[in-house]
Amino acid sequence: MKADYGNIVYPGPPLPLDLSALSGVRGGLPGTELEIGFGNGEFTVQYAAARPETLLIGLEVSHACVARCVRRIKELSNLKVICTDARFMMKELFADASFDRVTMNFPCPWPKNRHARRRVTAGGFADDLAAVLKTGGVFEMVTDVDWYAEEARQVLGGHEALSAAECETNPERTVTTKYERKWLEMGKTITRLLVTKTRPFTVERKTWNFYDEEREGGEGTAMHVRTGKPLPDGGLGFLAGASGTRGEAHWVFKKYYTAGSDADRTYLVETVSADDEFEQRYYLKAAGHENALVKLDGNSRVYLTPAVRCSAEDLARRLAEHAV
Ligand SMILES: C[S@@+](CC[C@H](N)C(=O)[O-])C[C@H]1O[C@@H](n2cnc3c(N)ncnc32)[C@H](O)[C@@H]1O
Repeated sequence: MKADYGNIVYPGPPLPLDLSALSGVRGGLPGTELEIGFGNGEFTVQYAAARPETLLIGLEVSHACVARCVRRIKELSNLKVICTDARFMMKELFADASFDRVTMNFPCPWPKNRHARRRVTAGGFADDLAAVLKTGGVFEMVTDVDWYAEEARQVLGGHEALSAAECETNPERTVTTKYERKWLEMGKTITRLLVTKTRPFTVERKTWNFYDEEREGGEGTAMHVRTGKPLPDGGLGFLAGASGTRGEAHWVFKKYYTAGSDADRTYLVETVSADDEFEQRYYLKAAGHENALVKLDGNSRVYLTPAVRCSAEDLARRLAEHAV
């Protein structure tokens, strides 16, 4: 049977994900593992097929890679893939102590200094990893770039809840990638770093409060903002190029669309926002006669982050300023 899109997960709400529900098995599967940046999924699919008792979740930022991976899946209910940026979303999607193992095969090393912050090991990755691993759980990183493995060993090994072993050269692995086999055949070197979580650790999540508010429902939920005024008429030309920044949240308003007229006018505003470097594109909808309401358009697939909230507040403020 060909895989259907049941292997692709579009998370939320709520967050964090319920891994036992995701596995489809009452009480969950005995093991839970994560792979970051699975590329075309060759390793991922073989690995999951060899471990039917383990739920394997893959995070991959490229839509094309997710599509290629899903095409490889014949029938595997224990493999779930999510298209997102692990740097921001790993800690948001998963509760503390979720994983027995986190694997990263051949991450992009981003060798130029100006790109160093794109490395998956940069920024808060050590904290995020220490949170989502179970105590005793292991992070495995395999790379053909030995300085990258050593850099990761220094960063992760220096964390209070993680312990890094010495890097190994050309380790025996039961499942390998095509690139790995080719590289070894050419007589080149592969380096593996193993890091173990030694004690409980947690990290702040930036989205969970918003999901809690949404779940409670009603007026004033996370992404609903009242302007206190009627909507402007005559369009939203004043939004052209408007943008904002609050801490690590940035947003910019792009095009807008108008529907209806006078009393039942609705505006849709295309918005791009970023939390750190985690970028999302969505529509904010503004509607209502006396006291207009700004909220996320129902068709926007978006994580509820501080930047999304800030953009809704900022739009409401600007609409109020230009109210009739
Ligand atoms: C060099 S490829 C390795 C692919 C695969 N693991 C392999 O060994 O063949 C690195 C992969 O990581 C993905 N990636 C890079 N940054 C990511 C991030 N922040 N979150 C999730 N995936 C990421 C890229 O899209 C790419 O598919």
